[in-house]
Amino acid sequence: MSIETAPMTSGAPARRWDELIEPDRVHGSLYADEAIFREELEKIWFRGWVYVGHVSEVPEINDYVTKSIGPMPVLMVRDRTGAINLLLNRCPHRGNQVCAIERGNRASFTCPYHSWTFSNDGRLMGYAYPDGYEGVDKSALGLGRVARTGIYKGFVFGSMAADGPSLEEHLGGAREAIDILVSNSPEGEVEITAGFLKHKAKANWKFILENEVDGYHPAFVHTSIFQVAESGIGNLYGPDSTAVTRDFGNGHTEVDLRPEFRRIGQPLGWFGTNEKRLPDYVARMNAAYGNDRAREIMIAGTPHTMIFPNLFIAEIQLFVLQPMAVDETIQHVTALQFKGAPDLNRRMRQQTMGSVGPAGLLLADDTEMYERNQRGLAARNPEWLYLKRGRHRERHDEQGYLIGHSTDEVPSRGIWRHYRSLMEA
Ligand code: FES
Ligand SMILES: [Fe+2]
Repeated sequence: MSIETAPMTSGAPARRWDELIEPDRVHGSLYADEAIFREELEKIWFRGWVYVGHVSEVPEINDYVTKSIGPMPVLMVRDRTGAINLLLNRCPHRGNQVCAIERGNRASFTCPYHSWTFSNDGRLMGYAYPDGYEGVDKSALGLGRVARTGIYKGFVFGSMAADGPSLEEHLGGAREAIDILVSNSPEGEVEITAGFLKHKAKANWKFILENEVDGYHPAFVHTSIFQVAESGIGNLYGPDSTAVTRDFGNGHTEVDLRPEFRRIGQPLGWFGTNEKRLPDYVARMNAAYGNDRAREIMIAGTPHTMIFPNLFIAEIQLFVLQPMAVDETIQHVTALQFKGAPDLNRRMRQQTMGSVGPAGLLLADDTEMYERNQRGLAARNPEWLYLKRGRHRERHDEQGYLIGHSTDEVPSRGIWRHYRSLMEA
């Protein structure tokens, strides 16, 4: 349902992104124009670094999971050497999806259509009735590959471009969010083992991307869950909160709730509990980091950080965004699990079910907003979306990142700055 069209003359040689993206407003067509969506796939999803999966999803030799880069199906496989391969899930014969089963353990994949068989590092091993082929170079008929694979602390990213910035360069300051996240494990590792829920939203992926770090809406959209759960989360996003929004550059953004958690000074307060309720976790953290450092980590909690374009670290969950069409996005959601923290992990799974499970109270509210955003765009006026909130009070932190009040639109403006640079490139 692409209703709007971009304000460009037809037949123009290139789109003028500066006419669609200004410092504090963006044109509605950016969320609704199918041609723009196709251009995003080329310039963002099939060129830059995109989060694919986590090494803990394929712990054993020959383990695999089906993953994606945008609408493109990918297999994440641990081959017999222990290396992680990102293969394209498309048969070189007639394009059939080679593997349809979401996870498993296998040394080879056999295409269901005509039975060509590939090893789990992508090589064509053989085909049925081989006398029908003569002079065929099997080595040229392997599965396609994601050009580059990068792993940071267990998080596996792929880039379809053979050249470009390294994963470390791309992540930049957002690496710190992953560092903080894994430090909440007494063993310094997260495990993505709780299984994924998939939520489809009839909305453009950028509405979701921006909303993950929109600190302006929770007090209104999530009133009911905050009341039911008797949670203090709502106050983190109130006008008096000391929490900040931050733009790391490269499109990575966050709502940093740590100033509020430090002000409150309660270990595990970020998780809505206290040390007495999770004695095993606290003991393991103290043993691993020493009491002072463990206390700091347990006060500050886990990040609320959106790694561009698709990995959202949401305190107790991971969300992975998958754009399917200009007005359709799937969010893959799982509970974070910390290695060596079984008592915390059990509660993380329970809270995840309560907030973003099939009957969860949090994601349903957001999804209603995403879909209303998309429907609202069908009205043609006003044409622009307004992103000026907090512009007059943004400032730089000690590390030089732009920050603002927790309800300010610093993240959206940062996302659009980066987006424009990618689309203009
Ligand atoms: S399409 Fe895969 S073997 Fe024919
Ligand atoms: Fe929300």
